[in-house]
Amino acid sequence: MTQQYPTVEQTIGNTPLVRLQRIPGSDDRGNVILAKLEGNNPAGSVKDRPALSMIRHAEARGDIRPGDTLIEATSGNTGIALAMTAAMRGYRMILIMPDNLSLERRAAMTAYGAELILTPASQGGMEYARDLAMKMQAEGKGRVLDQFANPDNPLAHVEGTGPEIWSQTGGQVTHFVSAMGTTGTIMGVSQYLKSQNSDVRVVGAQPAEGAQIPGIRKWPEAYLPSIFDAQRIDQVESIGQQEAEDMVRRLAAEEGIFAGVSSGGALVAALRVAQQVRNATIVFIVCDRGDRYLSTGVFNPR
Ligand SMILES: Cc1ncc(COP(=O)(O)O)c(C=O)c1O
Repeated sequence: MTQQYPTVEQTIGNTPLVRLQRIPGSDDRGNVILAKLEGNNPAGSVKDRPALSMIRHAEARGDIRPGDTLIEATSGNTGIALAMTAAMRGYRMILIMPDNLSLERRAAMTAYGAELILTPASQGGMEYARDLAMKMQAEGKGRVLDQFANPDNPLAHVEGTGPEIWSQTGGQVTHFVSAMGTTGTIMGVSQYLKSQNSDVRVVGAQPAEGAQIPGIRKWPEAYLPSIFDAQRIDQVESIGQQEAEDMVRRLAAEEGIFAGVSSGGALVAALRVAQQVRNATIVFIVCDRGDRYLSTGVFNPR
């Protein structure tokens, strides 16, 4: 029999779930805190899953086919993940973003062959970039995937992340904690876990007033992503920038888990939950790896 080898696409998902051992509060009161290491995905973040899901499902419906041009306004992990997925599946990828974003992110996207359109940050940042994406689609220049409104974003987590957490905990998970950006991760995982056990509590982490944590937002009511459904979340924790940054440094130095700042925020929320419960199995999402934030100085020696 010939040996079967996976493609890089088949290495998306099935990420490790690991137990914290040293951060105080992580194993008190009979609780166990588990980190789902999404930075282990091939393009380095949880966004590999929705990127593949949005392209794969659109292709299956016949909405797009290889060779087509895809467009997305995105500044972060989704852009890098879409650039990789477009490369794997043979699409032309145009990413639109404000011109004040870090060079290392831009370089990761162009390395995968994506074309970048930089919009003047002074003229309205991401909102301006999103308007331009819609204008280009209206002019027939390509198809916008729109992760904030695309049901195939949370579907990636109904089909992948949720079932993985359920089976990796042997159905023992009691709490799920995730930082919220598009809210795709928390919506999809919540849907799946609550379908298995309606008692699972779902906790969202959002930046406190004034905190700037890359990848996550506290949305004003009018700007909530259309994939968001408040019913799927039991509790929301506001996280300060300083405590998220302190925690992500501890995650690296005390647990050997090198992650992005939003993951520190999710762990702050998980530890707050742990103070209130006993004998719980608390899973939180590590969205991406710390390497992506080196130029921000958050890991500089202090
Ligand atoms: C670093 C980081 N953390 C958290 C999130 C939140 O994930 P979601 O968009 O699924 O809510 C994102 C999303 O882009 C992210 O880039």
